[in-house]
Amino acid sequence: MSPQPAKKKNTVTKKVTPRKSSKKRRAVAASTNNVKPKLYANLVVQLLSLLKGEHDFIANAANFSALLFSSLPNVNWAGFYFLQGEELVLGPFQGNPACVRIPMGQGVCGMAAERCETIIVPNVHEFPGHIACDVASNSEIVVPLFDGERLLGVLDLDSPNLGRFDDQDAEGLNELVTVFVAHEERLGP
Ligand code: SME
Repeated sequence: MSPQPAKKKNTVTKKVTPRKSSKKRRAVAASTNNVKPKLYANLVVQLLSLLKGEHDFIANAANFSALLFSSLPNVNWAGFYFLQGEELVLGPFQGNPACVRIPMGQGVCGMAAERCETIIVPNVHEFPGHIACDVASNSEIVVPLFDGERLLGVLDLDSPNLGRFDDQDAEGLNELVTVFVAHEERLGP
């Protein structure tokens, strides 16, 4: 892995195609508001437990992707692309076989990496340049990983459900990748 300098940190969450809201959707959202934050808080605990004492980056990334894939509902692909030169290269993942190399700026992954920001795509069929790896995927979220200011790569999750990912997922996943990278930094090379 040879990470490139990043322009900024992933503090911005960009929703490419905002969903229309309705009274009914707001009511459902209000009643389930705490579900995702609780789930992600629990995943932080589980991730820390999986990482504890383990030094191998690939093994840890593999277990991280397996944790997400097995714990998050309605997810058909979860995994990493790591930056090598000017392209993203497939890392540990769970799901169907995927495209191996994604140039910076291309697809959802390449755009998230280039912009250094989280991208939520409620409907991948409406995203110009979306790279389809699994025909079952209908929505997607991509979260960049940083080592300080350096871009390491992205975490990518796909769902067969339209509009599966929201700002709570973005927040939870950003916290998880921060925990993951911090652990690798603490252990060193
Ligand atoms: N859909 C991604 C490609 C990776 S797969 O979803 C695993 C993209 O458009 O970048």
